Parts: sequence; C-alpha cells; structure tokens
Amino acid sequence: MSIAKGFTRDDRFIDAVLRPNCFEDYIGQEKIKQNLQIILRAARKRRESADHLLFFGPTGLGKTTLASLVAKEMGAEIKVVAGPTLKKTGDLAAILSAIEPGDVLFIDECHRLNRTIEEMLYPAMEERNLRLILGKGLGARVVSLSLPPFTLIAATTRVNLLSSPLRSRFGGAFHLDYYTPDEIGAIVNRSAGLLGIGIKDDAVSLVAQASRFTPRLANRLLKRSRDFAEVKGFGEITADTVQKTLDLLGIDSLGLESDDRRLLLAIIKKFNNHPVGLNTLAAALSEDRGTIEEVYEPYLIRLGFLERRPSGRVATEAARRHLKIN
Ligand code: ADE
Repeated sequence: MSIAKGFTRDDRFIDAVLRPNCFEDYIGQEKIKQNLQIILRAARKRRESADHLLFFGPTGLGKTTLASLVAKEMGAEIKVVAGPTLKKTGDLAAILSAIEPGDVLFIDECHRLNRTIEEMLYPAMEERNLRLILGKGLGARVVSLSLPPFTLIAATTRVNLLSSPLRSRFGGAFHLDYYTPDEIGAIVNRSAGLLGIGIKDDAVSLVAQASRFTPRLANRLLKRSRDFAEVKGFGEITADTVQKTLDLLGIDSLGLESDDRRLLLAIIKKFNNHPVGLNTLAAALSEDRGTIEEVYEPYLIRLGFLERRPSGRVATEAARRHLKIN
C-alpha cells in the first residue's frame, strides 16, 4: 500500500500522539510560527478572538496541527469540518449557529466549498452575521442572526482556486512550504523519542531523504520502520531497517513511489518528453487531474524532476538520470 495514501486507524491514533501540543514543540515553519504568535498574543491582550486565518500549501505539512495550536494558544475550542461535506447552506448554518464565543472553526479543503456556502461565509466573517433565507418564492424572508466572536481558519492545497473575495477576508494568509531535511530529521528524532524507539543517525537521514520533505510521511515511514525492527527483534532502527522498509513499500531513496515513476515514465516514453497537457496525462494514467496536480506534481517540481510549462508538462534531465533513462 502506498505510504502517501494508505494509513490505518492505528496510524491516526499515533499521529495524534506525535502531533505537537504547543508552538515550542512544533518544528519548522519558523516565520509562520513567529507571525502567528504575535497575532495571538495581541488578540489575547485585547481580549478579542484572533483574525481569520488562511493556511495553504501541500498536504501533510501541518495545516491542521497549526490550527489546533492556534485554538490551544487562545484557550478555545476547535470545530473541524471538511469543505466538501458542506453541501447545503443549512449545513454551514448549523455549524455557525452552534459557535460559542472565541471558538475556532477550521474548514479544511476550503477550495471545494460551493459558491452559495462561500457567499454565506462573507457576512459571517466580516460582520459576524449569519443570513438565512427561510421559505421559498414569494413567501421567502431573510433572517439575520448575529454570531459571537470567532476565528475562521481555512486550509487549502490549492490557493489559486480560491475566489479573491474569499481570500481578501482573511487577516493573515500563510504559505506552508516543504520542510528542510534537517527539520524533518529533528521531527523524526522527536517522534522516535515519543514512540520509545531508538534510531541511528544514518537511519534518520534515510527517513528524512525519502519522506518528501513532509512530516506526515516521515512519521509514517518511521512507524513502518519501527514495525519492521520489532518484528525482526531489533532493539533500534538502523539504516538497514529503513532501507528494507523502503524496499517493501516500493519507495525509492528520494521518496518516489510507483505512481510518481509511472507519471514521469509516461511523459518521457509515451509522449517522448514533448510537453503534455494535464488532461492528456490524466487520461493516459487513468488518474484524476486534481490528484496529479495536488499529490504528485508539487514534489516532483520541488525535486526539479518536472516542469509545468504553458505548453504542458515535461520531465527534466535530472528525472531521467534518477530513473536511469538515457
Ligand atoms: N509531527 C508532525 N509535524 C511536526 C512538526 N512540525 N513538529 C514536530 N512534530 C511534528
């Protein structure tokens, strides 16, 4: 099973154990942490709820974690909803009308909110006003409810898909970027400590290199390596354990999985590395456009293996070298 996509209930439980509980424990994203801490301190001093915040960037970089730290820092409750689950205005109305003073409302995948829901958010964010249309046709009337102070935190992997009216209503917008290998190494060491397993330095480096600069994947790889070490009766995780775990999972030294390789190979071989449009590529791979854009491409671009040109996608010389294709 793919490490990027597949995870178990047990993983979710462990993820919660590994999730940092305060800003001091949160490694990386230094500028964002500094900014947030100032915003939150100022809001606390004024006894107000913090401004609405937008977090954007690739999956697995800690947007939900940061939102929960914001809530914790403000001594507030967090309510979490996924954008696509809000289908009717009534769904959002039910959530907004249950908000208590100071609450944090976290809406994940906010680029997938439909237009009417999005428009309902505008007055809620700006004037703390919930406008409901009751009834239909001539008998319809608008009821306006005032909401308590609250902080909306929205997260998205696709900030370019947000409308500018929505984007402009956030007091702060923060771009989470990939972590450095050193930061991932520090996260792996911290997580190994929390899981109570020893890990050699060269094993940490191997995990860091193969985890796509992403803490969630680093922690998963660590857990799978721990499983492997425990099954084999090893007391600690060595580089050899990590390498065997990677081989079992079909992940290479740079964290590429079969789907990433398939994508690059399709561009290089099937299309002779002529620029390929996203729709063509999606059809050739039987993959969803969104998955290609959100899951595979950001990391391949970051590695310098893929370029998005106006005329289409091309694989780079570095990708050919890594895949050993002349
Ligand atoms: N676990 C997952 N993400 C983390 C982070 N940024 N810092 C510390 N531990 C983490």
